[in-house]
Amino acid sequence: MYCSLVFLAAVLSTAYCAVYNIEMTRTPSQRSKMIRDGTWPAYLKYKELMRMSNKATSSQPMNDYVDVVYIGNITLGNPQQQFTVVLDTGSSNLWVADKTCGSVKRAKASNGEDISKAACPKKTTFDSSKSTTYVADGRKWSIQYETGSTKGFLGQDTACFGGTGTSQLCVPKVIFGQATTIHPIYGNNANDGMLGLAFTSIAADHITPPLIQAINMGLLDQPIFTVWLTHRGPVNNVRGGMITYGALDTTNCGNVIAYQPLSSATWWQFRMNGVSCGSYTSSQGWEVMSDTGTSYIGAPASVVQQLARQVGATYVSNYQTYSIDCNSPKPDIVFTIGTNSYNLKPENYVVNEGLGFCEFSFFTLNGAGFFPAWILGDPFIRQVCNVYDIGQQRIGFAAPLH
Ligand SMILES: *[C@@H]1O[C@H](CO)[C@@H](O)[C@H](O)[C@H]1NC(C)=O
Repeated sequence: MYCSLVFLAAVLSTAYCAVYNIEMTRTPSQRSKMIRDGTWPAYLKYKELMRMSNKATSSQPMNDYVDVVYIGNITLGNPQQQFTVVLDTGSSNLWVADKTCGSVKRAKASNGEDISKAACPKKTTFDSSKSTTYVADGRKWSIQYETGSTKGFLGQDTACFGGTGTSQLCVPKVIFGQATTIHPIYGNNANDGMLGLAFTSIAADHITPPLIQAINMGLLDQPIFTVWLTHRGPVNNVRGGMITYGALDTTNCGNVIAYQPLSSATWWQFRMNGVSCGSYTSSQGWEVMSDTGTSYIGAPASVVQQLARQVGATYVSNYQTYSIDCNSPKPDIVFTIGTNSYNLKPENYVVNEGLGFCEFSFFTLNGAGFFPAWILGDPFIRQVCNVYDIGQQRIGFAAPLH
């Protein structure tokens, strides 16, 4: 079913349309921007400092290899205020920068840097006084990362997936975060916030995520969404993919090859049986997660080292990344999930971000206990469409059609 069929009756479109195709843009990676302008090594040091000073935190820390590249539009309020947000299957809260962002005094980082203001000026901010549907909530809100936090307060308003003037999925009475302090990793990004697409159990304060709320309200044909990312590589500020809410994306993806049950409905977490590449094979098995909000693939150190050896990648220590020959033939990296194998091709794991060398798009994840040992980020999702089945708590994989 296509929303465009009811476009003529624009006023009625939300009433009849229960499948929504919403475009994503690929934006420049902040990490590669910082590598290019020479500020990345200093940032890595800063991150280490923050990591040490935040050791004592008790809340569930989120992954903060947050080098996001896929963004899309949402609106909040009536009349609609539009924001560009990260479409993130690795978290569960909706938040945007608030009008008061940066005005709240916060403690300084241990190196004396005031991190509270840095990220705010470049954001489009939400002004609740201009929305007739806004309801104050009063609760404080925060998301803790290993290296700092994003925080503010909660509010309630209508949230629509998709930009003004497009076919939108509008969800009334969504509780969302209004950020007054934004973690510096988001500072120079082209995004104003984040739309978390994982489960309620990992949402701050267990606030129902907007998509789960849409499903609970019966606003979608099926309780699923499909993510398809284009294969065009590191071309930025262009159409980067599509999220289809409420259905399998049959325009861009083939039939589902297999579904894998989720190990827990928290992150999009499931079991992966093994990995192989060249002469390396491991059938150790891990808990892994599918995450649109991570631009590379995170894996345990020993695995990353083995894979790097097989594909001929070498570690560049001051950038904490691997360089790899851009063009020479390389083996596929094969993931075994359930009884199926999924081949990650060199075209998807070799990335050229204009750094003067190509990168092997894997990084070491220091899996901390409860956290999945692997993050299957964008290179994996470019290779196979991911079908996120909220209703049956499983994830499906399908071959992209182009
Ligand atoms: C988001 O909205 C802006 C401004 O209307 C537009 O230029 C951009 O293409 C939109 N992005 C997506 C992914 O639809």
